[in-house]
Amino acid sequence: MGDEEQFYRLISNLIINAIQYTPAEGQVTVVLDHSDHQALIQIQDTGIGIAPSEQTQIFDRFYRVNSDRSRHTGGSGLGLAIAKAIVQAHQGGLQVHSELGKGSTFTIRLPLGVTSPLYKERQKAESRRQKGRKTF
Ligand SMILES: Nc1ncnc2c1ncn2[C@@H]1O[C@H](COP(=O)(O)OP(=O)(O)OP(=O)(O)O)[C@@H](O)[C@H]1O
Ligand SMILES: [Mg+2]
Repeated sequence: MGDEEQFYRLISNLIINAIQYTPAEGQVTVVLDHSDHQALIQIQDTGIGIAPSEQTQIFDRFYRVNSDRSRHTGGSGLGLAIAKAIVQAHQGGLQVHSELGKGSTFTIRLPLGVTSPLYKERQKAESRRQKGRKTF
């Protein structure tokens, strides 16, 4: 379906965020589902939440919500920009639903059977290597 490393990074960026922005007594839940055509992955948390005015900006590179609670984690503000780029490379969608003080849900939708351009390149390189081996 796609590049395993990219998917690992996508999901782990979102799970790490959910853990970082949720107090110790909170909860992080990962929901997996699929239909014939698409995979659905939701990362839900009961953490600090994100104000409506910030919900589009958090996907921008280097953007971090300017509150003491999220600042003390000291990230670079790249995790969600990377996650979004990976989803887009696979023609999927990444959405956030969030309420300040209550928590957030990030929903990933990926059409099944789409391979990213990067993964295709690697497959080509791998098959070239295999052919090379046979020659010798
Ligand atoms: N689950 C979440 N709950 C609350 N706020 C969040 C959550 N995920 C992201 N945010 C907010 O969105 C901002 C951007 O997130 P992003 O993952 O891009 O960067 P980061 O976590 O700050 O740093 P990095 O992921 O690069 O280490 C965060 O700084 C935080 O303010
Ligand atoms: Mg992050």
